[in-house]
Amino acid sequence: MPQAMKIAIVDDEQDMRQSISQWLALSGFETATYARAEDALKEIGPDYPGVVVTDIKMPGMDGITFLKRLMSQDSTLPVIMITGHGDVPMAVEAMRIGAFDFMEKPFNPDRMTELAKRASQTRRLALDNRALRRELGDGTVLVKKLIGSSAVMERLREDILDLGQADGHVLIDGETGTGKTLVAHALHAVGPRAGRKFVQIACAAFDPEALTARLFGPIEDGSTTLPAVEEARGGTLCLEDIEALSPTLQARLLTFINEQGSPAETRIIAVSNLQEQDKTVEDMLRPDLFYRLAAMKITLPPLRNRGEDILTLFNRLSDQFAEEYGCDAPEVTAQEAAQLMQAPWPGNVRQLINIAERAVLQNRRGSGTIASLLMADNEASQPVMTTEGKPLKEYVEAFERMLIDNTMRRHKGSIAAVMEELCLPRRTLNEKMAKYGLSRADYL
Ligand SMILES: Nc1ncnc2c1ncn2[C@@H]1O[C@H](COP(=O)(O)OP(=O)(O)OP(=O)(O)O)[C@@H](O)[C@H]1O
Ligand SMILES: [Mg+2]
Repeated sequence: MPQAMKIAIVDDEQDMRQSISQWLALSGFETATYARAEDALKEIGPDYPGVVVTDIKMPGMDGITFLKRLMSQDSTLPVIMITGHGDVPMAVEAMRIGAFDFMEKPFNPDRMTELAKRASQTRRLALDNRALRRELGDGTVLVKKLIGSSAVMERLREDILDLGQADGHVLIDGETGTGKTLVAHALHAVGPRAGRKFVQIACAAFDPEALTARLFGPIEDGSTTLPAVEEARGGTLCLEDIEALSPTLQARLLTFINEQGSPAETRIIAVSNLQEQDKTVEDMLRPDLFYRLAAMKITLPPLRNRGEDILTLFNRLSDQFAEEYGCDAPEVTAQEAAQLMQAPWPGNVRQLINIAERAVLQNRRGSGTIASLLMADNEASQPVMTTEGKPLKEYVEAFERMLIDNTMRRHKGSIAAVMEELCLPRRTLNEKMAKYGLSRADYL
């Protein structure tokens, strides 16, 4: 049971104060009574953990002025107004200023309890959301998730906090695995839309017709998912691989954006995932759409440009994996540290996570070096040309397939034994077997 909500009761008539207070105390509220609004104001601050019930006609500060003062310091505070018989214009005025509701004298006690409950639930939600936003606003949650203290990362965190509060559309780009999707989520989570929907669509995963239907409808008969633009209404629509939009869909998206007006009801976060080095997202989108989306732009720096962060990330991640696997994290020698910092990291943070996991497994087994992991990984993922004009990657892959095949054979399809011998996490082993068309059933 969460902590009881307070109810501040403000009324110049003592009988009235007492009876409301007694009744609500019986219903489980912690009550406080005030004869004058001025006194109540001294105790009710912006984060007041409760709601206010106030009379309108009082000597000194009247209920309407009191309400205005309360609203100016915290517009989410529920204030219930007590109105005399026939005070309809007064009640209307109070509602316009921001009162939660009003009760007419004489009271119906059950209605009063019901109102107080509803108001305090509203209050608790508002305070919870506010606390969450503050925590995120501090960046504490982000700092935890987004590891790194280089200047670019510090700047990135500030940008997320600033842009998170804004309404304009955002374009995020950067190499694969640099954290674009993570940042898109963070932008939504730190802003005022945090409680609303975050709808994420991987544009490249659909053919043009299916994508049109997924984004704008019509939806298939019997399907319960709404078109994304409907589903995300009032929240964030995150479009991954924005460059995959056909010209027709780009036009459609532009119309949608233009029709929304300003500030936009639904915020669009477009994520560009261009793999080709010589093309930018700007080349792939019609200019008017590009400028609408890129009003705010975040570019994630590649890992190789983040200096010391590489080591921080490696250490933090290998600690996490060591805990997961119940073993020690590998110690990084000076030479290995230099190698980590000089590696090209084409797969960026995602690749680093993978290396950290494999380093931990290797350490548990008691053999192998970080250097060998790095070398195998970076060579395998970068097409290095040999004298024969054939990428080294192909040789490495052929070798890797042979190795996994042999080991599976020797262990008669025991995945655990193969993981152990090759120092591969289960996920990686599964991925590689799928990639090379190897099936466990063939070895049993
Ligand atoms: N600074 C960081 N600190 C800790 N983890 C991070 C950081 N940046 C990214 N990650 C993690 O790295 C992985 C890859 O990040 P993410 O999926 O956001 O990259 P991406 O740029 O969207 O990749 P892709 O282009 O392939 O979609 C995720 O597991 C994410 O949580
Ligand atoms: Mg992504």
